[in-house]
Amino acid sequence: MSLTTRHAIATQDSLNRVFTVPEDKESTLSRIEQEISENLEGFLQSHIVAVEKDLSEVEKDFADASIPNEPIFVSQQADFLLEKLVSQSVHTASPSFVGHMTSALPYFMLPLSKIMIALNQNLVKTETSKSFTPLERQVIGMLHRLVYENSDTFYTKYMHDQNFALGAFCSGGTVANITALWAARNNAFAATDDFVGIQRSGLTGALLHYGYRGAAILVSERGHYSLKKTADVLGLGTDNIVAIATNDDNQISLPALRKKCEELTKDKIKIIALVGVAGTTETGSVDPLNEMADIAQQYHCHFHVDGAWGAPTLFSKKYGPLLAGIERADSVTIDAHKQLYVPMGAGIVVFKSPSSLSGVEHHANYIIRKGSKDLGSKTLEGSRPGMAMLVHSGLKILGRSGYELLIEEGINKTHRFAKMISHHDDFELCNEPTLNILTYRYCPKWVLEHLEQCNDISRIAINDLLSRFTKYLQKVQRGHGKAFVSRTKLTPARYDYQSMIVFRVVLANPLTNDKILQDILSEQVVLANDEAEHTFMAQLRALVQAS
Ligand SMILES: Cc1ncc(COP(=O)(O)O)c(C=O)c1O
Repeated sequence: MSLTTRHAIATQDSLNRVFTVPEDKESTLSRIEQEISENLEGFLQSHIVAVEKDLSEVEKDFADASIPNEPIFVSQQADFLLEKLVSQSVHTASPSFVGHMTSALPYFMLPLSKIMIALNQNLVKTETSKSFTPLERQVIGMLHRLVYENSDTFYTKYMHDQNFALGAFCSGGTVANITALWAARNNAFAATDDFVGIQRSGLTGALLHYGYRGAAILVSERGHYSLKKTADVLGLGTDNIVAIATNDDNQISLPALRKKCEELTKDKIKIIALVGVAGTTETGSVDPLNEMADIAQQYHCHFHVDGAWGAPTLFSKKYGPLLAGIERADSVTIDAHKQLYVPMGAGIVVFKSPSSLSGVEHHANYIIRKGSKDLGSKTLEGSRPGMAMLVHSGLKILGRSGYELLIEEGINKTHRFAKMISHHDDFELCNEPTLNILTYRYCPKWVLEHLEQCNDISRIAINDLLSRFTKYLQKVQRGHGKAFVSRTKLTPARYDYQSMIVFRVVLANPLTNDKILQDILSEQVVLANDEAEHTFMAQLRALVQAS
């Protein structure tokens, strides 16, 4: 294909055409559109190159920082995108892509997204969104109800009342977490008769007024890094996201949490919030939410649940009870672009109290005026797209029972995969799955048996070697392009909290089946044995024999 230097010309006429006339039916862009709408899987399969190309090579196609003076034709750009961008993108919808939280989307999301873009609504204000504003409030209400299960009267009263907000629609889990803790911070240091409130005074003024030396947010060491960003932007400082140790099940340690709360309080540090995680990013674990709610109550602080990944488990009658206590949270993050199967970026934070978000309200003269229904007065972001339309469609088209099936099958499959790993002679399961995320590593049975009885020095050396090998295998498998699992670091109690690299698998794509999972393990065994011929296995044997 030639990427010619033929230039289009910018004239008033050609610009008018670009804004009004669709591309010719035979054009590259129209062909892409047609292929995508008729056979998305085929399009992705045939246009994304499976074998990995080094990123530094890819960068060469995007090296020019100059904006071209002359326009080019849409078809030329479409050709370029197909050849250089689509080809080197990641096939996240592939059933063998089980390494991250981004996976396949229901087909109907594609044409719906096109409608959303065609309408180009801006949810910051009703003047640019009209019907989208009540729709977004309804979506927030629906997800609020999923968590808190209030009465019809409650939702009739609060859902569309401009003086209240049941939550905020955001671009993702990060902004949802920031919004929750922003509200928590502002409500913790609210205005009083003789204090203007933190929103006006800032953190220093608030601490001085309330008589604290500092402020902190507590979460387990498995908390998502977005909480560090939160502490940074809220002016708390990342050191004041206090990481609490976890137990063997990767849940926050309650004794450690209680002890830290006591210490901080004695030290005159205001605990702004406890954050419980419902579905940790690395291991899919769920913190003991009820007990955390008790502790939050005892210390008069906000209780936030980061359910970016796991909150949709509430759709399942079988697994929903794993999240018991979530209904006691003051706020809950739910990422729609994760387990609600909506395209990025859609995150939602719901608040138990309809007035929590009043603590972060802002107004302007030209929009989001006092008393208006403009959603922008209580969101961190300004201009926002009509993503709520896609969440609304998912909730209606799939319904509670559709999501229930998706969630349950994902978790059941993860348990089956855990069994496959446990029964396999070459692997060690590194966390018993709670939801649909698990970790494991390459560790032949004879090494595993040795690790159970060897001394500390030998154990540390062997685990370090296994970590290096797991990392190597993950990279080689990714490079081959047939399947993708990710990797992370854990510090399991079983190995005396030694840091080790493990494979991480997220099973959310309904098209991933047991055969694919079996194949992933088989490919890893082949790759391990290929390499092991040379160095790894020899080193491993030497380490085992030496101890
Ligand atoms: C538990 C948890 N919280 C928050 C986030 C952040 O979400 P986002 O990437 O949508 O900002 C993630 C993302 O993986 C997550 O797993």
